[in-house]
Amino acid sequence: MSEKKFVLVSRVPQTPDALKILYDHFEVRINEGSPYSKDQFCKALEDVDGLFCDDDEVDGEIMDSATKLQIIANYGVGYNNVDVVAAQKRGIAVTNTPEVLTESVADLAIGLMISVSRRVSEANYILKKRKPLEWVGFYLPAVDINHKTLGIVGFGRIGQALAQRALGFNMKVIYYDTNRCSINEEKQLNCEFREFNELLKEADFISLHCNLDKSTLHLIGEDQFNLIKPSTFLINTARGAVIDEKALIKALQTKKIAGAALDVFEDEPSIPNELLDADNTVVTPHMASGTFEARKAMTERCCTNLIMALNEKTPQDLVNPPWKPKK
Ligand code: DGY
Repeated sequence: MSEKKFVLVSRVPQTPDALKILYDHFEVRINEGSPYSKDQFCKALEDVDGLFCDDDEVDGEIMDSATKLQIIANYGVGYNNVDVVAAQKRGIAVTNTPEVLTESVADLAIGLMISVSRRVSEANYILKKRKPLEWVGFYLPAVDINHKTLGIVGFGRIGQALAQRALGFNMKVIYYDTNRCSINEEKQLNCEFREFNELLKEADFISLHCNLDKSTLHLIGEDQFNLIKPSTFLINTARGAVIDEKALIKALQTKKIAGAALDVFEDEPSIPNELLDADNTVVTPHMASGTFEARKAMTERCCTNLIMALNEKTPQDLVNPPWKPKK
């Protein structure tokens, strides 16, 4: 009887029951403690065939400590935490969890838009702090999202799911993506393409849905804030570093933009005090895909990828093709 392969789960996912299927196939080791330091991670990976990881930095050095490693199954659609080029060089498959979280992320983006423009979390904070209801003057003046222009940056699955929702709010939807849709697709989706700078100038709400890579690092910085209207709200459920956070803080403080709703931050888990303290921000802790439904499906998707790769089949969510199982 051949020995079972080893899978390391670097953090307990929010729906641990969905991991059970792994036990039918592999020896499974779960890190129940705090996230590994780099040294601990290297040590823990020494005899491991498959890694289930969540937001852990996995670089070439870490991969070198894992000579048997065949697959890095990343829990998340974004996989900027994994050095894919280093994995490719070492013949290691990298997978992500697309599709299953699309609707949840798009829902939260809408929620954040409404929350920041209608000042929901500010109002909630006032009442919970037992401050009196002030029916004086124009209390907590807010802004409608209906009939406004939404600019979506990154028009993949999540961007398009957000567009669908926005149209239900009678918004005009414009988008920018390096891959423009066909004219037919644009007609069907009822969305118009804009060059990036034009989108920044025109949109009342800008929502980011691109991957983080070299080309999108600090995509929104000081120059871009100079193009955005002072009445515009910026929403980020993609990755923190798509925005230059220092430039964002300055833009918020100088009212270059109306506000920002942020689910992701440049240097997680730390969040600058300026973003936490500002009245014109809404902040959430990287939870756009944090529904039971999405998280369970993400766990299952990671498990399926592990099972496929460690049974010498190309995993369904391979992001670095081609890949061949190591002999
Ligand atoms: C994703 O899927 O990329 C989410 O942000 C969770 O990391």
